[in-house]
Amino acid sequence: MTLREDVALGGRIAAMRAGGLALALRGDPVARLMHKPWRHDPYPTYATVRAPRGVVRSRTGISAVATHDLCERILRDRRFGVRLADGRQPFAPEEGQSLLEPVDLSLLGLDAPDHTRLRRLAQPTFAPRRLEQYRDVAETVTADLLDRAAARGRFDLVRDLAAPLPITVIARLLAIPEVDADRFAAWGRALGSSLDGVRSVAHAHELARTTSEARSLFESLVSRRRVEPGEDVVSQLVGALDAGDMTIDELVSLAQLLLVAGFETTTNLVGNAVRALQATPGQWEALVADPGLAAGAVEETLRYDPPVQLTARIAHEDVEIDGMPLRRDSGVLVLLAAAGRDPEAHPDPDRFDLTREQTTPHLAFSGGAHYCLGAALARLEGTVALRMLAERMPGLRAAGRAVPKTATILRGPRRFPVAA
Ligand code: HEM
Repeated sequence: MTLREDVALGGRIAAMRAGGLALALRGDPVARLMHKPWRHDPYPTYATVRAPRGVVRSRTGISAVATHDLCERILRDRRFGVRLADGRQPFAPEEGQSLLEPVDLSLLGLDAPDHTRLRRLAQPTFAPRRLEQYRDVAETVTADLLDRAAARGRFDLVRDLAAPLPITVIARLLAIPEVDADRFAAWGRALGSSLDGVRSVAHAHELARTTSEARSLFESLVSRRRVEPGEDVVSQLVGALDAGDMTIDELVSLAQLLLVAGFETTTNLVGNAVRALQATPGQWEALVADPGLAAGAVEETLRYDPPVQLTARIAHEDVEIDGMPLRRDSGVLVLLAAAGRDPEAHPDPDRFDLTREQTTPHLAFSGGAHYCLGAALARLEGTVALRMLAERMPGLRAAGRAVPKTATILRGPRRFPVAA
């Protein structure tokens, strides 16, 4: 990438951001979800989309749906996919702008039949019998992290518990050697930040560097597992690679997806849960009185303030949703977090209640073909973290303001000072 290309790219990104901000200032809800100050608390914006119709067409060119019913219908509707109707990538960069190439996140960016084939190959990793092995890992790591945090008294819930727990579990799942764990966490953060699109020229370079480094690590893991196979997901996929059921590029991007999907999402789950439990009178005390309520606290967090706020689908033919026509190849944002606050699906939706019985299951793990493969693992990690936190630190309290991440899709605190 030459300096001239960098300048051209910077100009294009700045123009896109300025255009979006102008629309946000004029009240466009989709643009507001992408921009400060509205991005920090998107729930009022979701409410404006949900009422009165549940669907809006934005001047950004993309529509959005916000009721539980519409979100679920679109996720399950086979007339929608994640690519254009002819199989091309949406938002493909123009020629000479390879730095705007989206990070390849495997299953998340594929439709059938490639999606079906690869999902089938990845599925055994998440079989219930395997998950039990990760419970031991999660409990041991959490105990160790909490011992160290307790010794300090004041600590950062994100840096000292919510981030290292899932990164250790995912490193174990992929059998990444210990030494690489820190680097691995930095990549997870960088790749996760790609979900919102490229922010700046420096961000584009960081993503290019990260994907190339991650690729080298995964390729060397493949070579190692060929010689010394283990119980991990890479060893299992090497078999599929050798049998010609997948390519090396597909294996590398699947491993990259597991890193992104399994890391910041779960970090945000623990961060958002503790924030809601602490901010809502009586909720932390209820969990301390009965740590067995941890699984309920996880479900309520997933409904009330989910780690993944939204996803997108593309119409593969001309369709109509709730009377609004959508042309083939037009995009719809499916506001998963807005669905969790839909009063038609969840009575008194703005109240956080860890004993709530969800008669309509939340959509935090999406639905249809792309339903989260790691949902059971995420629930397990979240439940272990909250249960052990309540058992070992009953007097836990916020010791400062939780600082939010500057992201639209992945929502959670970047820092959250607490005292044991
Ligand atoms: C609280 C934590 C988590 C949340 C909220 C979450 C949420 C989601 C959502 C919303 C999707 C689908 C996106 C779409 O429909 O476009 C998804 C897909 C996926 N998730 Fe999770 N996830 C979590 C944890 C995990 C973990 C721990 C793993 C694995 C280690 C994982 C692996 C995946 C994979 C592989 C997919 C792609 C499935 C496909 O496209 O077929 N997730 N997740």
